Amino acid sequence: QSILPAGYQLRALRKTDFETGFLDCLRVLTTVGEITKEQFEDRYSWISRQDGGYFILVIEDTNTSPARVVGTGALIVERKFIHNLGSVGHIEDIAVAKDQQGKKLGLRIIEALDFVAEKTGCYKTILDCSEANEGFYVKCGFRRAGLEMAHYF
Ligand code: ACO
Repeated sequence: QSILPAGYQLRALRKTDFETGFLDCLRVLTTVGEITKEQFEDRYSWISRQDGGYFILVIEDTNTSPARVVGTGALIVERKFIHNLGSVGHIEDIAVAKDQQGKKLGLRIIEALDFVAEKTGCYKTILDCSEANEGFYVKCGFRRAGLEMAHYF
């Protein structure tokens, strides 16, 4: 089932991923800005302290030298009072490098995040996406539910 192309590895984000193209991978999704190594490491440390609440996965292509991050996705586990202290998994920031799209990497990232969500006791995972990406998430087993609203500051 979860088979990646030869030489591709799915793993947790590391503090050293400032060097491996993780931020460039995210640039296919949206604006990232000019983040320094120190800023990256500070944010990484903060995320690491969110004990069991924050997971960032990457897919690394080790066929190239140096190896390069070609896909990423995040899961934030929200612990609730409702549903008997239930947890909801929020899937965020899914991105696959342009030249790597269409190889099922996005699907593998979602499968892995769903696996982590289920293991940490989430009763569902939810996400927001554009109409253009609806078909991708349907292929990943999601269905349209509710309506997103936003209040920008
Ligand atoms: N519309 C319809 N179907 C799609 C789409 C789409 N936009 N993208 C992929 N699919 C289909 C594929 O054809 C494939 O179908 P198949 O199993 O019948 O062959 C299936 O979905 C799985 O596709 P993958 O190869 O795993 O998709 P990919 O690795 O290219 O990743 C992704 C998809 C993440 C949307 C990628 O195109 C991307 O990074 N886009 C730019 C950033 C982006 O929009 N990210 C999502 C933001 S929403 C969020 O983060 C919660």
